Amino acid sequence: MKLLGKSISYWVRPWAGGILLTLALAGAGVAGAATWPDEVPDFSLLDIRGRHYELHRSAARAVVLFFTENGCPIARKALHKLHDLREAFPESEIAIWAVDANPGDDRESILKEAMSIGVVRSFPFLRDETQGVAHMLGVTRTATAVAISTKDGKVIFHGPIDDQLTEGASKPAATQKYLESALREFLAGQPVKQATAPAHGCLISYDTKLKDAEISYSHDVAPILEKHCVQCHSAGNIGPFAFHSYEKTKGKSDMIQEVLLSRRMPPWSADTEVGHYNGERTMTLDETRTLLGWIAKGSPRGEGEDPLPALKVPPAADWPLGQPDLIVKFPKPEEIPATGVLEYRHIKIKTPVTEDTWVNAVAVKPGNRKVLHHCIIRVQSRKGGDDGSGRGVWLQGWAPGIQPGHFPADTGRLLPKDSVLDLEIHYTTMGSPQVDDTEIGFYKLPEKPKRVLRNQGAYNLEFTIPPGAAEAQAVASIPFPRDTLLYAMSPHMHLRGAWMRYEALYPNGQRETLLSVPHYDFNWQTGYELPTPKRLPAGTWIQCTGGFDNSPQNPYNPAPGKRITWGEQSFDEMFIGFMETADAPKPGELSQAASPEKK
Ligand code: HEC
Repeated sequence: MKLLGKSISYWVRPWAGGILLTLALAGAGVAGAATWPDEVPDFSLLDIRGRHYELHRSAARAVVLFFTENGCPIARKALHKLHDLREAFPESEIAIWAVDANPGDDRESILKEAMSIGVVRSFPFLRDETQGVAHMLGVTRTATAVAISTKDGKVIFHGPIDDQLTEGASKPAATQKYLESALREFLAGQPVKQATAPAHGCLISYDTKLKDAEISYSHDVAPILEKHCVQCHSAGNIGPFAFHSYEKTKGKSDMIQEVLLSRRMPPWSADTEVGHYNGERTMTLDETRTLLGWIAKGSPRGEGEDPLPALKVPPAADWPLGQPDLIVKFPKPEEIPATGVLEYRHIKIKTPVTEDTWVNAVAVKPGNRKVLHHCIIRVQSRKGGDDGSGRGVWLQGWAPGIQPGHFPADTGRLLPKDSVLDLEIHYTTMGSPQVDDTEIGFYKLPEKPKRVLRNQGAYNLEFTIPPGAAEAQAVASIPFPRDTLLYAMSPHMHLRGAWMRYEALYPNGQRETLLSVPHYDFNWQTGYELPTPKRLPAGTWIQCTGGFDNSPQNPYNPAPGKRITWGEQSFDEMFIGFMETADAPKPGELSQAASPEKK
């Protein structure tokens, strides 16, 4: 790598695929040493509108990150230069993302700042609130641009946009346009003559966890893994490997860094600035920085005992909610052929109750996770009722990632006597013949609950997704003619599903975002249950807006060249905003219940 000043390159991590760190001692006046990985790991950040940006999903040939922060004079001036660069390069070739790594700047203040400078529409403004991306890229000052090749993750350029602006004094005009020259050379397939230049801007104040704090594996790192990771990453649980020792953890350090920077682990897709839900799997900024800082320091063992080997994590129970009161089994195990695309199966089983029975949980015990793709349990009875499918009343759905739970307090669902269960089962083939004997467990309520829990969906059956489209939007909405309690929301799309947002449109004209999933993950179907149910007054609509990514950059996309419409198979698409609801208590009903003797 060529530098303005002196450069020393050396391998600091000797294992295969190690990371080349370049120490740039780039001329006088530069505080500290900038280091960055030879191959930038994947990362993702949300912008100030809550949209998701991910390095590996960019279709451009290079992504330029420009680090800014509110109130920094050099960054403010440089943003105008960045705007000019945006005009100079097609977006299909160069993506430009402004990134604010000052945890004190929130979405609103960054928006205000960008508006006051007049660049709010020039490029997206992303927030790096953990500072993990800025730190990983060795950014010490704002107004630093880092250009990354999306083909191989190499840093093409690291430094200021040009040589005009410095702290204090500035030249009348730039004499060297570092970033523009580097990008032109890169796009022309030529070697980049000057790949770094000394940074000039406001010093980024890193959290001590990322900077110089001593991080203890025993006291700081292992407890975080214990709290947020080992329930899945342990023997007999769903994680693909177990965090059972220091050695195992150190061996996975690079991957841990990547899953943290790209927000894949712990798995939780909802935007926490929009809402919080029961069972949220998120870490604090401090916890994330502790893990990232420890890995950046080379994952040292340090003093103290290793707590992980002694941890006893029970393997996932067959019935995580406890032994069910009733269990329903298939009449005979289902046989799944080795190959082919399978139609949905509908297995009918007589409901094993002799009188009307209320339940407050329905659990699915998958018989064969290798082939079971989803299972929806409905009940059909003479009482009628239907969830819109024409197949009965929804009791429960299971798909990978769905954690079983009880229905919300005071709610339940009915198993009428003389009814029939309809088990909608979808299998995917895996190359060898398989059998499956999934079981369904029911948990009884002693009496009729206060409210009957309904499953409703806002459906869009009409969309078409053009071949290769990176952002094809769809909308679905559903009215609530009666006062309704909304308990939970669960976006459902297939492999091209990219994002979904639920908004309530109230009869008084107000609008409220109830859930935003900026980066939908088909493998982690999640029901987002509100901590307290939301009352939707009669006349409210719920509107679900979302997007599909049918581009080749979507790693799950089975066929980017195809035009896609609604269909049952995972290689088709769906767009449903599922909701768990109940009729709201009438005004006064709650207070009457509280004081029964009053009329
Ligand atoms: C709710 C369960 C769950 C939790 C909690 C969880 N993981 Fe995972 N993790 C998984 C599963 C399942 C996979 C494999 C599928 C996937 O990548 O989504 C995985 C994959 C991974 C991978 C490998 C990714 C790859 O592509 O090779 C790493 C590394 C990882 N997890 C680290 C962590 C860390 C660190 C934490 C805690 C901060 C954590 N996980 C928390 C379930 C979990």
